[in-house]
Amino acid sequence: MSRRLALITGASSGIGKALAQEFAANGWDLALVARREDRLRALADQLEDQHRIETLVIAADLNDPAAPKAIIDAVESRERQIDALVNNAGFGLPGTYTRTSWKQQSDFIQLMYISYCELVHRVMPGMEERGYGRILNVASVAGIMPGSRGHTLYSSVKSALIKFSQSLHLEGKASGIHVSALCPGLTYSEFHDVNNTRKLVSQMPKFWWLEADEVAKAGYDALQRNQVVCVPGLWWKFLTGLNQVLPGPASMWLMDRQSANLRNTGENTAKDSAS
Ligand SMILES: NC(=O)c1ccc[n+]([C@@H]2O[C@H](COP(=O)([O-])OP(=O)(O)OC[C@H]3O[C@@H](n4cnc5c(N)ncnc54)[C@H](OP(=O)(O)O)[C@@H]3O)[C@@H](O)[C@H]2O)c1
Repeated sequence: MSRRLALITGASSGIGKALAQEFAANGWDLALVARREDRLRALADQLEDQHRIETLVIAADLNDPAAPKAIIDAVESRERQIDALVNNAGFGLPGTYTRTSWKQQSDFIQLMYISYCELVHRVMPGMEERGYGRILNVASVAGIMPGSRGHTLYSSVKSALIKFSQSLHLEGKASGIHVSALCPGLTYSEFHDVNNTRKLVSQMPKFWWLEADEVAKAGYDALQRNQVVCVPGLWWKFLTGLNQVLPGPASMWLMDRQSANLRNTGENTAKDSAS
């Protein structure tokens, strides 16, 4: 088998699906992971036909702490090795911290941080041995900007992912491993439908919005050139750059004002809410 394999989590929609299309267009075989298996199969069939690649479909719920090991086992049982890992699966919780249950918050941390870290821990040693690897962690501009009212742990988890990626980037250098954190701003996907904030965020100006395929292309290109942090789009580059030069209290003041437009801080209305 001469083609390299990329494992992509959250490939059934949005940015993950676009990343799968980008990797496939660049000749990678794919292992596609998410819960909605029918969507993954449809995408896998389309990409196999279009790009003459091979795909594995792995239905998994990354809220389950056993999922990362099971995913890697599924790939290895097909005698394939993972050359690129794209940690992308995710969601957001509406409401403020105390208006969501601890189960929701702990599921959030499990999926959005622990599963990312465990998958890296399981695949990176093989990459080091082979002297080649690519790891893309999908973070967010929320990890660069100050924390907001509502969506509470989202910024901290994304911020931790950026730091995690920076450390891995340094640790992987000597072994030919590229590590990047992709930090999109508002992107058209199912994200805001899942957390019921579509109406709220639709009020944001059109030029704030990115297409999933432009985010995926920026992420893929950044990973190839081993750029540690990638912020797609001029507007978001400007905003994150401004944040670096503004005094902390001024950034916090701006975030406080903007939070009201971007975040639902009322009752929890997540579709998948758990008790
Ligand atoms: N859209 C934005 O504005 C934006 C901005 C910055 C960063 N991001 C980040 O981009 C990443 C992708 O989000 P998106 O915008 O593409 O949203 P999306 O369209 O809702 O896609 C989310 C993906 O994650 C998967 N997923 C969710 N929960 C899962 C679970 N428990 N187990 C396995 N897979 C799960 C979903 O698949 P299933 O439902 O089939 O499991 C889906 O494929 C996330 O990490 C998000 O934080 C998004």
